Amino acid sequence: MAEPYRVAVLASGGGSNLQAILDACSRRSPAEVVLVLSNNPDAGALTRAQNAGVPAEVIGSPADGPALTKALQDARADLVVLAGYLKLVPPDTVTAFAGRMINVHPALLPDFGGPGMYGARVHRAVLDSGASVSGASVHLVTTEFDRGEVIAQRTVAVLPGDSPDKLAARVLAVEHQLLPEVVMAAARAGRVVSLAK
Ligand code: GRF
Repeated sequence: MAEPYRVAVLASGGGSNLQAILDACSRRSPAEVVLVLSNNPDAGALTRAQNAGVPAEVIGSPADGPALTKALQDARADLVVLAGYLKLVPPDTVTAFAGRMINVHPALLPDFGGPGMYGARVHRAVLDSGASVSGASVHLVTTEFDRGEVIAQRTVAVLPGDSPDKLAARVLAVEHQLLPEVVMAAARAGRVVSLAK
């Protein structure tokens, strides 16, 4: 078997998106999660990594580009996935992994994205807009929040009486499908490929 496609994951929170990738990689997969990094020492994502036997480290200074780039290069990451990572990636690291760093966002970019647009605030904004659909987006990471080329998207219905939490749960379920699909497509191709139409 060819060398597995080496995936590093950055996460700040519970890590359910990380878990979806770990689960997808556990079945005869061309991809392997080789490193999990978090800016939050209490992140559930770090525990999930440890439970999966994956090296997990706390990023002491998320703004320290050279240190982050070194950690990712030392892990020989082929792909870097931001899975609920809430810090801006330093330009040094964005450049070092240009075209090989992706982020999942719980809305249909380019709408409802940008600084401060994460968590319930995203879904509150979608509901307030009166939109009838929302969804998940995967995009290439640039030096600005949520502005890179969208490479995969999947919609969900916004239902009457939806609360931010209900919509968030519906979108999260789709994130858990879409992100592993993008990771596996990249692993099979040996590079990030767009699944967007
Ligand atoms: C997800 O909603 C994701 O879209 C956003 O942050 C959340 C991460 O959740 N970027 P988890 O930590 O993967 O459970």
